[in-house]
Amino acid sequence: MRTRTINEYVSAVGAIDWDRRLFDSLIPLPDGTSYNSYLVRDGGQTALIDTVDPAKRPVLLENLRGVERLDYLIAQHAEQDHSGLIPMVLEMYPAAKLICSPKAKSMLMDHVGVAEDRIRTVADGETLALGGLTLEFIHTPWVHWPETMVTFLRDSGILFSCDFFGSHVAQSDVFVTDEGFVGLAAKRYFAEIMMPFRTAIQKNLDRLKGLKIAMIAPSHGPVYTRPSFILDAYRAWTSETVRNSVLIPYISMHGSTASLVDRLVSALAGHGVEVHPFNLDDTDIGKLAMALVDAATIVIGTPAVHIGPHPRVASTVFLANALRPKLKFASIVGSYGWGHKIVDQIAAMIPNLKVELLPPVISRGMPRPADFEAVESLAGTIARKHAELGLK
Ligand code: FEO
Repeated sequence: MRTRTINEYVSAVGAIDWDRRLFDSLIPLPDGTSYNSYLVRDGGQTALIDTVDPAKRPVLLENLRGVERLDYLIAQHAEQDHSGLIPMVLEMYPAAKLICSPKAKSMLMDHVGVAEDRIRTVADGETLALGGLTLEFIHTPWVHWPETMVTFLRDSGILFSCDFFGSHVAQSDVFVTDEGFVGLAAKRYFAEIMMPFRTAIQKNLDRLKGLKIAMIAPSHGPVYTRPSFILDAYRAWTSETVRNSVLIPYISMHGSTASLVDRLVSALAGHGVEVHPFNLDDTDIGKLAMALVDAATIVIGTPAVHIGPHPRVASTVFLANALRPKLKFASIVGSYGWGHKIVDQIAAMIPNLKVELLPPVISRGMPRPADFEAVESLAGTIARKHAELGLK
């Protein structure tokens, strides 16, 4: 994709990755992604904000053809999908200075091999004149690494936010054209990348309040021309508010756990609780992560493999613990053949989840009427707990 115009000073010179289907070897990308790089020009001076993933080197090279002078290369984040081509750009423009936060300096030297004498660090709130324009740098730690910062082009009100507010979307239009579609992609992105840092993100959202933001230009996905749309979504996702919703990641080997899950799904629905079962035999783990963003409860369904949870369930529990969602309650349903330590082992795997553990239901072999009654009771307990939180 060629250069696309944002306004008279800014153009998008990054790359669209239509075909990428997995990020971090973890989260499926049903809609591809983009690595956005922005060129800001005025009065003969030029700055480039972030580079692109090294796999898209030819695209950035092509889009910089005709850019004869680069004064500044602004690195907002040291992760390689944005920093990977910094050495190439610095080689193309020997006079360019690399601008980054103090924390990013050693990271960029280590991760991509930038020479120390090319780097100029900027303090939180420091400004840089570019022709007649003013760029303001705002340190935003933990969105999602410690060194991350954003850049505000005061004159146009454009906030260049790197991963902050990003979405994994490949589309030809540089601007958001379908907020519903991009909102879901941004939630998927938030779930995997940002959710563990909710408290830091809340603080960073507060720091942006004083800015008159006309557009948000992230480094993945399209540019937001209605910033309140994504700012409000981030405020909701990072708040303590949860939904009247339960997710049930599960595996069943011989049908016993599945029959417990089926009964639980029906019973919860009967209580008016939104329920999302995820059969881990074939689950988009990104959708599961999205459900974790605002669900009140997780119920983990697993048969015993030897004496512990099924390894695929264990992997999902490990991920849920790492993502630190704002879940309030958890429980376990499952089955075993001759013995198990499912409950103890899962409970030990979720120290990051500040949840109340509700009574588990574990059947020996195929569930009997008493097991189904216990599942009905669990559904009732969940509905009551949600109601006590005021969830509807
Ligand atoms: Fe898009 Fe943290 O890199």
